[in-house]
Parts: sequence; structure tokens; C-alpha cells
Amino acid sequence: MATLTIDGRSVTADPEQTILEAARAAGMLDIPTLCWYPKLSVVGNCRICLVSVEGQGKLLPACATKVADGMVVQTESPAAVDNRKGVLRLLLERYPGEHLINGGRARPRNEFEQYVVRYGVVPTPFPQRDLTLRHGDERPGDPMLRHDMSTCILCTRCVRACEDIQVVGVLDVAQRGEHTEIIVGADGDPDKAGCTWCGECVRVCPTGAIFEVMPHERFAPEQVRHPDKVIRSVCPYCGVGCQVDLHVADNKVVRVTLIRKGWRKEEGRWVWRGSTGAERRGGPWQTIEGEGQNAKPAGPPRSVGKSVRELPLLERLDMDTRDRVATPAAWYEPFREATWEEAMELVAQELSRIKRERGGNALACFSSAKCSNEENYVLMRMFRGALGTNNIDHCTRLCHSTSVAAMQRALNTSAASGSMREVEHAADVILIAGANTTESHPVFGAAIKRAHERGAKLIVADPRRTELAGRADIHLQMQPGTDVALCNAMLSHILAHGLENEAFIARRTHDFDKVRAAVQAMTPEVAAKITGVPADRIRQAAEIYARGPNTSTLWAMGLTQHANGTDLVTSLLNLMLACGMIGRWGAAMMPVRGQNNVQGASDVGAIPFVYTDYRSVKDPKIREEYARVWGVAPEALSLKEGLMVTEIVKPESGVRGMYIMGENPIISDPDIAHAEHWFRELEFLAVHDLFLTETARYADVVLPGSSFAEKTGTFVNTERRIQVAHQAVAPPGQARGDLEILVELSRRLGLETPFETAQDVMAEIARVTPSWRGVAYERLEGAGLQYPVPTAQSPGTSFLFDDHFPTADGRATFVPVDYAPPVELPDEEYPFVMNTGRQLYHWHTGTMTRRASGLDRREPTPVVEIHPDDARELGVGDGDAVRLTSRRNSMVSSCRISERVARGQVFVPFHFREAAANLLTNPVLDPYAKMAELKCCAVRVEPAQAAVLAD
Ligand code: SF4
Ligand code: SF4
Ligand code: FES
Repeated sequence: MATLTIDGRSVTADPEQTILEAARAAGMLDIPTLCWYPKLSVVGNCRICLVSVEGQGKLLPACATKVADGMVVQTESPAAVDNRKGVLRLLLERYPGEHLINGGRARPRNEFEQYVVRYGVVPTPFPQRDLTLRHGDERPGDPMLRHDMSTCILCTRCVRACEDIQVVGVLDVAQRGEHTEIIVGADGDPDKAGCTWCGECVRVCPTGAIFEVMPHERFAPEQVRHPDKVIRSVCPYCGVGCQVDLHVADNKVVRVTLIRKGWRKEEGRWVWRGSTGAERRGGPWQTIEGEGQNAKPAGPPRSVGKSVRELPLLERLDMDTRDRVATPAAWYEPFREATWEEAMELVAQELSRIKRERGGNALACFSSAKCSNEENYVLMRMFRGALGTNNIDHCTRLCHSTSVAAMQRALNTSAASGSMREVEHAADVILIAGANTTESHPVFGAAIKRAHERGAKLIVADPRRTELAGRADIHLQMQPGTDVALCNAMLSHILAHGLENEAFIARRTHDFDKVRAAVQAMTPEVAAKITGVPADRIRQAAEIYARGPNTSTLWAMGLTQHANGTDLVTSLLNLMLACGMIGRWGAAMMPVRGQNNVQGASDVGAIPFVYTDYRSVKDPKIREEYARVWGVAPEALSLKEGLMVTEIVKPESGVRGMYIMGENPIISDPDIAHAEHWFRELEFLAVHDLFLTETARYADVVLPGSSFAEKTGTFVNTERRIQVAHQAVAPPGQARGDLEILVELSRRLGLETPFETAQDVMAEIARVTPSWRGVAYERLEGAGLQYPVPTAQSPGTSFLFDDHFPTADGRATFVPVDYAPPVELPDEEYPFVMNTGRQLYHWHTGTMTRRASGLDRREPTPVVEIHPDDARELGVGDGDAVRLTSRRNSMVSSCRISERVARGQVFVPFHFREAAANLLTNPVLDPYAKMAELKCCAVRVEPAQAAVLAD
């Protein structure tokens, strides 16, 4: 270590640190910087950070000079200050800083202007300047980001942030000398240059030359610069769980409680006096199936190398995008506004009535992976404790339920073993199977790209050529649903060449011989015929995977959303265990979670088989514990496992009444036409959501939910990290927080529910959840805690399984699986394989993202991706309407020609009700996890006009 003196203070630092780093680590944050920024490469070109170092004849850049033992540094020496004034004066020569000549000095607008004021520099008035203002690419018409390069000071932070942090490289420095400017690559077209609209360049820009459009459209510049308050929360998007700061300046949203017209209160009870039969839940809208048949506007061209400037997006649309995606006014017609008293009374009355008349199991509830742990806990507590049923589930069923089934079987765990940062910093090899991480988990996707840049090898197993597949060292582009053959062949090759980890297998696992026998015949040559991946490539991938030395294994929906998803994940786990790639820093097992709290919702028991901590509902002893804490008789809690999402929405389920919080099953369920019909037939339906969704329009009561910004609660991310999000704004008007609604409803249903705040709920969760026993709100501030946190002193657990698994004998179990073809294979009648998934700009059923104008303008319409050669054979061009028909249904969409899909396959994003992918998908279920076959079904594709004529 080196000991140096900075401004008279003795500081100890690592000799590899710079003066700036040493000063910052010691809490001395005053050395000014412009070109330097944390995590960016050091360029040392702005010269504002120059400091005096004793014995040196000239000033030295603090950001680029390493510390040395005995060094004496003065950060604000007269020479350093003179230099800074000179740098700022020069930069101001080309900066629109007239306001800094006079009153504007009191309120500097950005980081750069703060330095101008701090060092007392006054700009030269415009008429006396020699140079004109700078310019550069402005991104005209961009709905989300724009540039005003007249305020650019050429620090190049934006260029490096895009390149180093996001690993994209959209921005560049062009020209030389006084003409130097920041440009957008690919002829100024950000789409073509690969921009993801991530906003990293906005975040780092010290002058605001790059800015977000929407805040500026909605708020005054002063409100944007100086918000009323800044509140720490957790992003509600994916399972990565990034912390975000919410800048609060205004609060205008209005929300109302709705009751379906026809409900009347007579003699103290609510009775239905509306129409009956098919009209009971009808309304002035088309069914999803009906909308699927309508003509579609062409989507914006993308991934096909054309410039959006050549084909302006909005001119190609024949409808106003906002009208189509926001809730149509007609959807409100069957409802009337209601008071909270009316709505809560009606919900409590009908849930109690159905329980009384038909038993608790005639009720079911969909909880929400977008809601907090506390809300999910209170909802499952209400259904179990007050209504006596375990029919509670959430979207994990359509997400990672097969991973959970496979991991439980092999390792008795339901969560990731490691952390995202170990994948970024310590993995030598990263295998990603069926995960389009840069689109579905963009922040983690960027971390994987950074890992690849630092030298980690990347193997991607995916039927599509996703962005990561395009970058990968090896892309295993297999036929959908053939992953078992691929993983077994990799393992077969590893065993044939003695590359397995014998010590790990012997010490930490069972039943390896069964797997050895099962994979033996699946040689790379055999697998090549099944998967379409050349045998050599399989061999190469297997060797890289096994040799690591530290290989991380990631997977997501591409693997899990199959009717044999549990087997697909099992084959991957066998590969991982045989190579011993778990339980070491850098060798992480990571099912990449979809929703921001899908992990937490499961952890706190919003699934049909278990209470919190995955403790079985069938065990009378466990039941007693919960009964005691909830203040109910043990017999009030059912010992029978409940129904899963995919079992509930079926006539034979016996479910007649539902409470749905924050889910939209009419779009997300497989075989939508049946699901929509089923919901219409229910006796009672309450939907608790932010918007009047496709599902909510069939409800009896719609309870307005609260957004993540309006509540305090905790969330668990994909690496088991429990984080707290704080309320930034109050729910508008008379709207209530989700927790408040659930607490009141629980009380109305007769369940003692003594919570006033989310902290109160967490205290009870910690009491009944052994692995969360040490969790308390005050311990979650900052980075949160990774569970298990068994005691109040435990610092949490960043990675698991270093010496044993949570099984009875501490060992993992190998489970042999044989390859079986997907349920539906292409044939003459249905010659294409349809795959479904997400787009970068939309989230699931589009409830939120399709109402966000900037995102919606990026992807305003449904599309189907088709390989150029297939499109040519079909005679369809980019933007043409095509009809897709499966054995279940048929719908019209717009063709996007793209080489991301292989020949013989089509890809349909599932966000669009106008062309809902799940009209076509196969509802056949995985035998263990009851997951539907969402990723693979056989379809026919035809030009829509021809298909209409043929009909
Ligand atoms: S928004 Fe992101 S990807 Fe686009 S230019 Fe900025 S940093 Fe690069
Ligand atoms: S746009 Fe902003 S971040 Fe980029 S070079 Fe100019 S001042 Fe620096
Ligand atoms: S911040 Fe050190 S040279 Fe720019």
C-alpha cells in the first residue's frame, strides 16, 4: 500500500489507484472531472482535474496519475485553479452560456456549469466570440432521445459509455480540429447503428447535450433539473432488479373504482340485475380471436438493414397508435364508477358467498410477480386463511415453473446459485440457453457483453440469431424443443473424452451412472440430425464448457416454456453437475427470471403447493405454525395442494370465482380463445390492476391498483437479492395502495390482519420464513440482502452450494432424461415452427409498455419475423399482411423479414392483442410443472389476401 498526503490529509491507497481514486475513496470528492467518469476508460483529455504534486515541475492529471508512497498532492493549488479557469474559459467559447454572465449563475443547469460558477469564470458575450457553436447529429423526430450538440463540450463520455458500458458503439467522434463533433454512426440512423435507447449516454453527459424527450415535454426545465424530491426505488421491469431514483415533480394520474352495471344493492345485499347468458359479461369490443382476423398495418422495418429515414415509420401506419393501444373508451361502457365501500363490500360478499355455497376450492386467485413481497404475502394469506383454498398461483407457471421443478428434483432449490456480478467479472465461459438477454434483461445483457469483451467465452444455444448469438464464440442454432438432444450430446462427448469432473461427481452427487447410460447413444452425430447443429460445433461447445475453468450456466423461457420444459432444464443441470460448474465464484447456475418479482412472489408462498420458504401445504405441522401466526384454526387451512394457473382456466377446474391482481391471463394464457370464453362464464371476477386490461373488461369489479412509484415494499431479483423500494408519490385522488386494499379485504373476510405498513408485513414474513428470519427493513437500505439471511447478524449469502446442496445428505441427484421430439412437429399442412417471445420495447401483455408512447412508437404494431428465403417462396415482402394458422386458430399479422430466424421457423412476439401469439400456441402441459408448450407449435403461413380468398 502507498501512503500519500492529499490536501494535508494522510491517505493510504493501493499503488494501482490513481490520485483521483485515492481521494474519492477517502471521501474527498472535490477534484473536478469532465472526461473522467466511473467505469469508463480513462482518456485524460479535458485537463480539468490537473493537480499539483510536490517535486513535479508541471501539473498532473489526477484521473490518470498513479499514487506513489510519500506523494504530496494539492488539489486546489493556485496553479491548478488557474489551469481550471483556463480550461473552462476555452470550453465556454463554444457554449451557449449567456445566462452565466448574469442572474443564471445562481442556478447552474448542469455539472459543467457548476464548475463554471465554482471557479468564477464568466463567458465572453456572443458578439465578441470568434467561434460558432458546435453541432452534431440531433436525432430529429426521435420520440425518446435527442441531442442539442450546441452544448457539447466534447468530453466523449457518451461515446465511451455507449461502447464500454452498453457495448453497443452507436456514437462516435467525427471530423478534426474545430469541426470535431459527436455523431450517430450508420449515417445518423440510431436504429441502424444498433441503439437500444438505454439512456446511458444521457446519464453520463455533463451538459445535458443528450437528453430524454419525454420529461422535457411534460415538465418545465427547472422541474427536470431540480425535482421536488428524489426517491430510491427498484425498477419494475425484469428480474435484474436495478435500483432507480425517481425524480418527483408532479402527480396527475387519476384512477377510479369500477363496478359492472347491473349490480344493485337491495335490502343490504348486492344482487345481479343485469342481462344474463352470453351478454352477462359482454361489452362493445371484439374478442381477441376477432381482432386477430383484422387487417394489420405494416410494422416499422427493423433488423433488415434499411434506414428508417427511407421508410418513415408513422407514414406507414394507417391508424393513430395511441388510440389503438390505450384502453378504448368503449371498454368503460359496461361499468359505472363506484365508491370504495361499494366495491369492497361487493367483492367480500361474493367471495364469501361462493365459499359458503361451493367451498373454498371454487375460488382461485392470480397473484402478481409485479407486486411486492408484502402484497403477495397478504393476498396468499387471505386466500389460505380466510377462504381456505390453496388455489393461488401467478405467472411463474408460465415462466420458470419447469426450472423450479427440475432444480427441486436435482438440488432441492428454487433459486439461482450465484450473482450477476460473478458472471460479469469471474466467469471464464458463459453458456446461455434459450435466453434473449439483451432484449429481455437489457442491463444483465450489457453485463454479459462486457464479460465477453473482457475475454469470457460465450456459447449461445438458441433457435434464433439473437444479438448475443451474433456475438457468441459458438452459436448452437438448433431446432426449437431439441435442447435435450443437444445437452445430452454435449455430455456424451464430454464423457467420451474424460472431461467430466470426477471428484465433484463422486463427492457431491448421486446416480451419475444412470445419466452416463442415458446419454451414451446421443453422440454429436446423432444429435446433429435432430438439432440441425453440426456435430463439430457440438463437440467444440462441449469442450469449452467442460474446460471452463469457471463456467456459468444461464437459461430462460426458450428452455422452460415447453411441454417437456422440466426435462429440458434437467438435461442442462446434468451437464452442469457432471462438469462441477456450480458452487464456485464464477461458476453460477442462473435461471434468468422474467418479471421483477417472480422470485419473491414464489418465495413468499404465492404458489399452490407451499407457504413461504417453499414449505409444503400438505404437512400438518407446518400448517399449525401458519395457523397460529394468522390466528385461525389449523383446520381452516387446506392440506390439499391448490390448482396451478394452467389448471384453473379450464371448465373441469370447478373454479367459479376469481380475484386477479396485476395479471392479464386473457393475453398470456395459452389458447386464448378458450381462456376468454372461460372468464366470461365465471360467476364472479374481481380484477385489481393499474389499467382496464383485456381481462379486466370482463370483471364485475375493477379495483385500481397502484404503480411501483406509489408504494413501499420489497422485491427479490434473479440473484435472490431482497431490495426495498420506497414510495415516491401518493396514489392520486382517492386511489389506494395495493397493500391497503388487500388488508381491508382480508379484514372484511374475517381474517385478523393487523398490518398498517409494509414493514409490519415483513416482520410477519420474517417470523414464518426461516431463511428470511434476519430480514428487516433497516437492513435492506442500500444494496439489500441476498437470502438466506437466517439471523439478524447474517450478512446474507452471495453464492450457494460451495460445499453442499440443501438435500437430506447434501448431495445433488442426476436425473436421466431421454430426448423426445416436441409435441407438434411441422408437416405438409403446417410446415413452419412458430416460436414466441419478447421484444426489447415491450413487456409481456403490453399493459404498461404499450401505453408508454416512446416505447410504443418503436414497436407499434404486431409483426411476425420470417426468414428472407421463406418470404421469397411465400411471395410476401416486408410489411405485407400474412395469415398464420395453427391447429388451434388463425390470425393476421404483418411480415418482418429477418435473418434472426432460421429457415422454416417464424417468430411471433406475444405483446399484441391484435395478433395474439397465444391464439395459436399449444395448451398441452408439462407433466411436472404444468407449463404450456408456448415456444413451439406447427403453423401454416400464407399471404393474408390469398388466405382470405381461400376462406
Ligand atoms: S441510448 Fe444507449 S445505445 Fe443508444 S446511443 Fe445512448 S448509450 Fe448508446
Ligand atoms: S454529448 Fe455530452 S457526453 Fe457526449 S461528448 Fe458532448 S458533452 Fe460529452
Ligand atoms: S477528468 Fe482528468 S483529464 Fe479529464
